[in-house]
Amino acid sequence: MCGIVGYVGHGDAKEIIIDGLKKLEYRGYDSAGIAIQQRGQLKIRKQVGGIANLEELIGTEDMTANCGVGHTRWATHGAPSTINAHPHSNQDNTIAVVHNGIIENYVELKNWLIENYDIDFKSETDTEVVAQLIGVFFEGDLLDAVYKAVEKMRGAYAICAVAADDPNKLVAVRKDAPLIAGLGKDENFIASDIPALLKYVKEIYLIENNETVVVTPDSVQILDEQRRPVKRDVFHVSWDADSAEKEGYDHFMLKEIFEQPKGLTETLMRRLNDDGTINLDGISMTKEEIENFNKIYIVACGTAYHAGLVGKYVIERLARVPVEVDVASEFRYRNPFVDDKTLFIAISQSGETLDTLAALREAKSKGARILSVVNVVGSSVARESDDVFYTWAGPEIAVASTKAYTTQLMCMYLIALHMAYERGTITKEFYDQFIADLKEIPDKISYFLKAKTGSVEKLAKKLYNRDQVFFIGRGLDSAVAYEGSLKLKEISYINSFAIAAGELKHGTIALMEPETLVVTLATQDFLYEKILSNIQEIKARGAHIVSVAKDGKEDVKAHSNETIYIPYCRDEITPLLSVIPLQLFAYYVAKEKGCNIDKPKNLAKAVTVE
Ligand code: M6R
Repeated sequence: MCGIVGYVGHGDAKEIIIDGLKKLEYRGYDSAGIAIQQRGQLKIRKQVGGIANLEELIGTEDMTANCGVGHTRWATHGAPSTINAHPHSNQDNTIAVVHNGIIENYVELKNWLIENYDIDFKSETDTEVVAQLIGVFFEGDLLDAVYKAVEKMRGAYAICAVAADDPNKLVAVRKDAPLIAGLGKDENFIASDIPALLKYVKEIYLIENNETVVVTPDSVQILDEQRRPVKRDVFHVSWDADSAEKEGYDHFMLKEIFEQPKGLTETLMRRLNDDGTINLDGISMTKEEIENFNKIYIVACGTAYHAGLVGKYVIERLARVPVEVDVASEFRYRNPFVDDKTLFIAISQSGETLDTLAALREAKSKGARILSVVNVVGSSVARESDDVFYTWAGPEIAVASTKAYTTQLMCMYLIALHMAYERGTITKEFYDQFIADLKEIPDKISYFLKAKTGSVEKLAKKLYNRDQVFFIGRGLDSAVAYEGSLKLKEISYINSFAIAAGELKHGTIALMEPETLVVTLATQDFLYEKILSNIQEIKARGAHIVSVAKDGKEDVKAHSNETIYIPYCRDEITPLLSVIPLQLFAYYVAKEKGCNIDKPKNLAKAVTVE
């Protein structure tokens, strides 16, 4: 999705902005651009394609400047093209604007600008309307002009503007799209995301909705809608620049797969007291509220939704409360049964997924208690929730989510256990044993990664050439099947399909032919016999079966072409282990096919549009 970087200070604005944009490349984009303030003029350079194309365009051109803005664009209004790339400027190129989000009334504003100011629009974008609006209101003070423009705008946006005639100043505004200000020494920054600034600053301000921020080399001032100064605590970022680098791995995805033991340990240990009980620091939900919930909705998108499917199984099994899981884009349009006895759990790595945020707001407006499971501290989902369970996965750069998923699962287990204990549906012995079992997971994953990555790679090399792959499983295994299938399709572009194994014979089995590749999850002890029958059904049609099973389960081997064994653990927590071979399989298949693993086509890391 789009990324914003702005700089004002004593450094080389072009270098710093381009460097920051590169750190945001992982979010997915189709064009990039930069505007710098140089000797009373704005120089704007933009190019379709990657940042390397932009750098090539600039070449050795003199772009010396101490103030400017840059952008990576993911097309929404208007095709990916150089003309539609940001920054956009006003009629006489004295104002430049970068923008994330959507200006909903841009057509109306465009007509108003044409009728009243005879503006000649160059692009098809909603962003150009913002630049032209600021342009017609500008009378020497950029802040004034931005306020006047914002009064007319409707939508969700983060914008950052620079003016040729108001030097060494950036003005940025946030409404429903992430925006931060970085605090340096004699230099300050604007960005849409923390990784863009990690190399330069660790102290930031998180800008809130409807706030404007004025950035100069020696000050960062936040103002509210009425232009009153707002006091904001400085937020200290604990990630270091290295955590957003590949550190010798070929791809971020592989690095992030290998970071799972660390992320899981961090997520678990931050929530455990010395006596082994779950600590709820920062969570205000009371025992009485937990006892009174009569329904839970878990709402999310993509991989986070798949973590929600596991959450449903464990919360229902342990805490005995009915749980519905829904994809966020559906939830908000189906008038769900939500009231003040409903717990709404939003799961999101980025905390900025617009569908999830909108669903959260819908549930909140109906009186639900909001608990979120989020990776990015201070993100919109986190800020709009009553309580937050953070996943401590660290920055996830690859578009394909891996460590965010497993840390989300860890949070779901802790939430389920805590609720079950408060509701009296499990014993203290069960609770203690479950936590002890969770504590063993990071080591079990480390063991698997060390011992089995090579064999999964070999398998991927053998099977990468398939046109379609099926993933099947029962119970919790079906939830993991959905995640394995999504992983494979999003980075290798293979048509993969997941289905609950028991459903096969109600239609999908018609697609089984000799050599059809079926990945089968067979990790649930109490469903073991059932999945063996399903395997035999498809084996009889000649399918090529790759099974994932727990150590010690020998009979599955007899019915499978290949079997990947994961370390033994209790049924409820196998998803934490069984997903690892599926992540590795997807990774190595995509690698074998020569795909752009970290930035798959058509996808963005954070989907901040509906
Ligand atoms: O940031 P979020 O967790 O809200 O993102 C949700 C989905 O867009 C995300 O999980 C997506 O499905 C990933 N590409 C999956 O790998």
